[in-house]
Amino acid sequence: MARTAMPDFTASPESVRTHGMNTSPLSIDYSLCMSDGVGDRGGLTDAELDAEAPAFERGLARLLGEVDAGRLGFFTLPKERAALQAIDAYVGSLPEGITDVLMLGIGGSSLGAKALVEGLGASTELAFTQPERRRLHLPDNSDPGRLAALLGCLEPRATLVVAVSKSGGTVETAAALLVARQWLAQGLAEKASEHLVVITDPEGGSLHDLAEAEGLEAFSIPSNVGGRFSVFTPVGLLPARLLGLDASGLLDGAAAMAEACRVPTLRDNPAGLLATLHVLHQRLRGHGIHVLMPYADALRPFAAWYVQLWAESLGKRLDRRGRIVESGPTPLPAVGATDQHAQGQLFVEGPRDKLVTFVRVAELAHDLTIPHEDGDYAYLGGHSLAQLLDFERRGTALALAEGGRPNLTIGLPRLDAHGLGALFFLYQAATAIAGELYGVNAFDQPGVEGGKELAYGLLGRAGYAEAAARVRDLEAARSKRHSLG
Ligand code: PA5
Repeated sequence: MARTAMPDFTASPESVRTHGMNTSPLSIDYSLCMSDGVGDRGGLTDAELDAEAPAFERGLARLLGEVDAGRLGFFTLPKERAALQAIDAYVGSLPEGITDVLMLGIGGSSLGAKALVEGLGASTELAFTQPERRRLHLPDNSDPGRLAALLGCLEPRATLVVAVSKSGGTVETAAALLVARQWLAQGLAEKASEHLVVITDPEGGSLHDLAEAEGLEAFSIPSNVGGRFSVFTPVGLLPARLLGLDASGLLDGAAAMAEACRVPTLRDNPAGLLATLHVLHQRLRGHGIHVLMPYADALRPFAAWYVQLWAESLGKRLDRRGRIVESGPTPLPAVGATDQHAQGQLFVEGPRDKLVTFVRVAELAHDLTIPHEDGDYAYLGGHSLAQLLDFERRGTALALAEGGRPNLTIGLPRLDAHGLGALFFLYQAATAIAGELYGVNAFDQPGVEGGKELAYGLLGRAGYAEAAARVRDLEAARSKRHSLG
């Protein structure tokens, strides 16, 4: 473990523990989640952390075995550049005048793309998009409000529709695609197919079949990469390139982090350290709520992406051996300083069930200096808004620590493609390693299938008559309603 004094620290200099990496600009300061930073009640001891090292080493070895055997694809994606070359060729060949990209997908087929483009400074909120850039729209839900509004204001001839579904069978995406395809056909007749591209599993599925039947441009999510681990496939890379963002830098940053995450020593492996701290805080101190709180608006969607990654990967009924464990942490997104005024009270004084991770960006893309004024606000004069944000993070971290509440800080010098790529990869690898430590399969999601099947039954899908009957039985059994009026 390196103990390095940082220019900005959240505890006394002698107790700062920084995990810094030679190959990556990212650092992890975990001083305030250890007992010498927050006391024994809230913090882990060195002995407790070190005792988990053998489990980490076994878990990492098993994971890397899967990677090297080609069964686990996400780990090697950052080194592969063929998809990016194909994407660049396609983007260069697009019809003139495409100003808008409408991306239809949900869960892992949407959250990573949003986190990526917003993380690199391209807003997906219409009011904040830059005039020189294409605009990306991600309705990300079946609620018709947003899609109806978008189709009402976009022009088919200036829009590229990107349908993303690894399985090809996700009902929300399929339904939105059918609506958008009809909209394109009404506006563009036989040219409509030039404005539609799909991203799906190359080995089959309804979306794959549709693309083949209609001769649509199609990009692949490799079969050995799951939805929430797919940000470095065309799922993230195509929207990035359509908006002119630095996708190669992103992959470079991720590749450097991937190297660091192969290191077999717990305290030298950033993902291993992050995962182990979280798992032990839950297991030994009851800190099962894992808050991710970046102090940067551009990382707000990153926190939403993290929630899906952590929750869907780790919340499992059965462990790898088939025993019932019903385990997993509860991820909670927050953003500083906004949530200091919403959830901060709960974090500082509520139940002692949380581990908070702050993300600090040392140099924000924009800054504004606060002007001098005499009177009550004189103390603000000469500071900048970025400095204020940083002081607020430090204040919050220290206030938590003072009350014995553990927290850690991931530091990035700036939010560029390299740093963001490293951050994405760090969390993907940490999730995989946490899965090993919890003893569960981090790459499936059997729990979400039940609800999907009942919805298919309600929709009258062929082969789901039994599910429709189950819906009727379940609703009849629960028909005693408490209602007003
Ligand atoms: O991570 C996952 O596998 C899921 O969240 C999926 O991404 C989500 O359910 C969408 O699935 P698909 O891409 O098959 O439409």
